[in-house]
Amino acid sequence: MTGSTWVFGYGSLIWRPDFLWLDARRAHIRGWSRRFWQGSHDHRGVATDPGRVLTLVEAPGERCYGRAFLIEPDVFDYLDFREKNGYERHAVDICFAEEHVSGVVYIAPAANPAFLGDTPLDDMAAQIIRCAGPSGTNVDYLLELAEGLRNLGISDPHVFELEALVLAEQA
Ligand code: SIN
Repeated sequence: MTGSTWVFGYGSLIWRPDFLWLDARRAHIRGWSRRFWQGSHDHRGVATDPGRVLTLVEAPGERCYGRAFLIEPDVFDYLDFREKNGYERHAVDICFAEEHVSGVVYIAPAANPAFLGDTPLDDMAAQIIRCAGPSGTNVDYLLELAEGLRNLGISDPHVFELEALVLAEQA
């Protein structure tokens, strides 16, 4: 890849952009929804008890809002390592308020070995409360995400319902 590239972030990239970026903007992509359907053995869980983190699932007609970062090509070395547990780069059209650009997004497809898929939200919440890994607790991942979305003025019922369940359990 040559030249700077836009990367669309919908999960931890939103609230932990610990890499060099040239520009960052609220953005959305079409046809995808954010879901806590990916297992995390390396960040928010361990091999014997994986946490639940985000991936995108195809959702015709939907929009997924997040934050896009313009990065230099060498930053992909870091991002590919950080997103290594099942995520792949996908080409995507990234929409800003006034324009759209070609870019990439990290998606963990259903065929990857760490994929967990759908389950009732109560079970997801229980798993998130239980799990932790080298990057911290699974609860922190969820709460940081929810705050990051609010800071960008983004509403996501899947995330906010899970957040409410987790906070109610911990009250
Ligand atoms: C992303 O944030 O765009 C990818 C998923 C994650 O790292 O949480």
